[in-house]
Amino acid sequence: MRVGVFDSGIGGLTVVKSLREHGLFEEIIYFGDTARVPYGVKDQNTIIRYALEALEFFKNFDIDLLIVACNTVSAYALDALRTQAPFEVVGVVEAGVLATCNALSSTDASILILGTKATVRSQAYEKQLHVRGFTRLSSKATGLFVPIVEEGIFEGPVLESLMEHYFADLATPDAIILGCTHFPLIEAQIARYFSDAPRLIHSGEAMVEYLHVTHGLSRRARTCDMKFFASENPEALKAVAAQWLRL
Ligand code: DGL
Repeated sequence: MRVGVFDSGIGGLTVVKSLREHGLFEEIIYFGDTARVPYGVKDQNTIIRYALEALEFFKNFDIDLLIVACNTVSAYALDALRTQAPFEVVGVVEAGVLATCNALSSTDASILILGTKATVRSQAYEKQLHVRGFTRLSSKATGLFVPIVEEGIFEGPVLESLMEHYFADLATPDAIILGCTHFPLIEAQIARYFSDAPRLIHSGEAMVEYLHVTHGLSRRARTCDMKFFASENPEALKAVAAQWLRL
């Protein structure tokens, strides 16, 4: 199976990492819109327009499935993409909701959703979790984590003070949805900040679980051929991919 993976930039590589580790696909075509990242500060129309432009790129490849490895795009543009795509499209928000439901034993659990401004504004997670009976939901836009992860800062005083800025007034929830594909890079630090060990939901691992449950996909590929494309400076994206995926 050949799959397309789309993100606004490099964050979706955390989803590629999970797909590869679990051996779900023989071939991955990755496209990051690095020239226009971040999407998380943009409005709905712009996010949909950019997503549909990315779709045109993927139409050049004979893919079986397009994975939207960006929470911001998944929150706003999934319907538009599905209307126009000649292949199936799945997004990380649906996957994250399923993984959250499976991880928690009771709908009384409290859930904190972290994401970009746009993702938080969309309330995409809240809407789907409400339908499944969860009511103790809160969210926090933590968009400054995106540039610091892009900068390669995964620990240290800058991250610590940013976590203090965002989290100081929050009680520890039962689960935290890392509702941005950049955030798994600082997952350990976020987990450590909250003392009572909340469950952390990671878009990449959630997508693996989702594809297993909804498509019956499990380990099948022994090797995975990966091609990386970017709207700007593809060499920089490839360098990050080599570092994160240990290629
Ligand atoms: N990786 C994107 C997401 O999952 C966020 C980065 C951006 O703002 O473009 O929402």
